[in-house]
Amino acid sequence: MSTSGFDLSGRTALVTGAGRSVGEGIARELAAAGAAVAVNDLHADRAEAVAASIRDAGGAAVAAPFDVTDAAALDDALARVTAELGPVDVLVNNAGVPEGQRTRQFLATDESDWLLQIQLNLLGSMRVIRAVLPGQVERGWGRVVQISSGASSRGLDIGVSAYGAAKSGIEGLVRHVATEVGPSGVTVNAIALGLMENVGQRNADHLEHLVRDIPVRRLGRPSEIGGTAVWLASEYGGYVTGQVVHVNGGALNGR
Ligand SMILES: NC(=O)c1ccc[n+]([C@@H]2O[C@H](COP(=O)([O-])OP(=O)(O)OC[C@H]3O[C@@H](n4cnc5c(N)ncnc54)[C@H](O)[C@@H]3O)[C@@H](O)[C@H]2O)c1
Repeated sequence: MSTSGFDLSGRTALVTGAGRSVGEGIARELAAAGAAVAVNDLHADRAEAVAASIRDAGGAAVAAPFDVTDAAALDDALARVTAELGPVDVLVNNAGVPEGQRTRQFLATDESDWLLQIQLNLLGSMRVIRAVLPGQVERGWGRVVQISSGASSRGLDIGVSAYGAAKSGIEGLVRHVATEVGPSGVTVNAIALGLMENVGQRNADHLEHLVRDIPVRRLGRPSEIGGTAVWLASEYGGYVTGQVVHVNGGALNGR
């Protein structure tokens, strides 16, 4: 039987912030496509629950709890993941909603709000990419998938300016690094998400208002981001690099 170009058997993936919501969906779909998945989260219990349920479904997964803004913790965790599953072939940088973040207009923010976003969405993501990339280049194959947001490329009046700025910054890095490592067989892309179901769950009374400007008239599902990540991580994704793929139901205001 021939193997699908989407098959990720034999690949090791690390998904950050995968203890719930979007990251969980990405981890599940990568595992369903055959990858062995390291499930990262700040909260060990969340990472362990997701890894256990992937294993229960017949997939391969281990929990890899650490704070992606902590450089020393990252080094330790990567050493453990490499020992347990092998080197990271596929990195999905999904952690991007810092604990304690406040949504407020720029004029009401201060440096602590900016730093919270930059530490996670820009420096944290850069640090994980910097840690896995040398091995991918050396092995001549690798995939980096950065989770971003429509807030990176459009102005939105919903109090997310520092978040949007950090996401714009990491999309810039994606474009540059993709050109640098392209000859080595490593692709680097971003997926810019629109509004996802967990936002709807937090705003159940305003669901109609939330979906009004989304052409498909519903919110996004974690599995749909997972499917996009599988494509970018797969052999079929090999000719796509330096791109920002918008998965947002066609929303023009692209949150
Ligand atoms: N939900 C949306 O509508 C939406 C829209 C656009 C973009 N996004 C992006 O999708 C990604 C996931 O968002 P979500 O809504 O699923 O978030 P979420 O808050 O539901 O889950 C994120 C997980 O990341 C973990 N996390 C937070 N900080 C971490 C850290 N420093 N180290 C490790 N783990 C950490 C949290 O513990 C949590 O379990 C983010 O990058 C976000 O910016 C989401």
